[in-house]
Amino acid sequence: MATKATISFDNNSPSIDLPILKGSLGTDVIDIRNLGKHGYFTYDPGFMSTAACNSAITYIDGEQGLLYYRGYPIEDLAESCDFLEVSHLLLHGELPDHKQREEFISTISEHTMLHDQMSNVFRGFRRDAHPMAVMIAVVGAMAAFYPDNNNVADPESRKVAAMRLLAKVPTIAAWSYKYNIGQPFMYPKNKLGYAENFMHMMFATPCEEYVPNPILARAFERILILHADHEQNASTSTVRLVGSSGANPFACIAAGIASLWGPSHGGANEATLKMLEEMGDVSRIGEFIKRAKDKSDSFKLMGFGHRVYRNMDPRASIMRKTCHEVLNELGLHDDPMFKLAMELEKIALEDDYFVTRKLYPNVDFYSGIVMRAMGIPNSMFTAIFALARTAGWISQWCEMNADPEQKIGRPRQMYVGSARREFMPLHKR
Ligand code: CMC
Repeated sequence: MATKATISFDNNSPSIDLPILKGSLGTDVIDIRNLGKHGYFTYDPGFMSTAACNSAITYIDGEQGLLYYRGYPIEDLAESCDFLEVSHLLLHGELPDHKQREEFISTISEHTMLHDQMSNVFRGFRRDAHPMAVMIAVVGAMAAFYPDNNNVADPESRKVAAMRLLAKVPTIAAWSYKYNIGQPFMYPKNKLGYAENFMHMMFATPCEEYVPNPILARAFERILILHADHEQNASTSTVRLVGSSGANPFACIAAGIASLWGPSHGGANEATLKMLEEMGDVSRIGEFIKRAKDKSDSFKLMGFGHRVYRNMDPRASIMRKTCHEVLNELGLHDDPMFKLAMELEKIALEDDYFVTRKLYPNVDFYSGIVMRAMGIPNSMFTAIFALARTAGWISQWCEMNADPEQKIGRPRQMYVGSARREFMPLHKR
């Protein structure tokens, strides 16, 4: 096994030795931290080959299609855990025992309500505001309501911030929907499970009790578990970069939500369903595949492809199974959208363009169909992704703040603009 890499130059400059670091699993890493001292930077737009931190939280093997949280395969966690157990695992490194589980749930319960004045923040928005726009604002506004958590150097304060975010983000997400449809905000019900409580806040009204269907609640927990963390993706890296300056946790998570919103990232679930709706029928699959392959067309087949997975996204396989369960439970096994998705997946997986580029369905391909069947509107899909990912973001943020190697994130650039120019006064330009 190599322990160092050597860079040599074609102009007789002395070569540079760089140590090779080994993680516990996965690709070895060339440590380039001292390269700048030799007068060079590396160039890697999109971080295609750059590890920006070390982390003990999530491991992905993109070639084999493996995803582990703290060493546990996602399949086992999705099958046997609830979301709060998984959140405990991400945050503290271990699955909770009975007592720790009870304590964790009890602390979350203490924090589910929002400061009463926060309802006014919602009321400043237009009724048709996208829930993600509302979430970015309200989560950011938490810094003003809970300023006691702005001391990021204090581990206890970070822990309370993590619990507040885990507890309150579902309330914020559900209220952004209630505000949208003009219904009164529903307060959390702490005797319910995490997913059930969210469904209650989404679907109950002061006039009508909502009794969550246990199969749907379980499916919803699974959606949350599958989305809870995914190592250094765009939104998590955003949280880390914002947090690296010492910014408060609420500002960091609001930035993560903003990054997630894009259609290349968490916005893909909403975009996938829109695409399937636009397609409408299997007879139009060929037309959409043709567009996806056309380099002069910016259209991409939403729900396909991933920066890291060059194999089936393990989350997509679980989500497809969950999709079957939910549609069966609701008597929707003939759901045309699901049939269309299955057919599209089949055709794309046989198509040379997708095969050679190793483009497989990702988690967002099926999650929209499941959520739509549960009665959740398209505009809430990414908000639900954000609520699940809050567990990962805050765990990564805590890990970063406890890391003695933590530094402010400050990428360098390759400047390609003008060299020094003579200034031209306005009257001469
Ligand atoms: N449809 C058509 N072509 C595609 C697609 C797609 N969905 N995804 C990638 N390609 C092509 C791409 O054009 C490129 O072709 P070529 O080599 O001929 O130039 C090749 O495949 C490699 O793709 P890339 O764009 O270099 O890959 P990337 O790692 O930069 O992008 C991605 C990854 C997820 C942004 C991209 O696959 C994509 O836009 N997919 C659709 C959006 C989507 O479903 N996103 C959800 C990701 S999973 C949820 C999450 O964790 O955020």
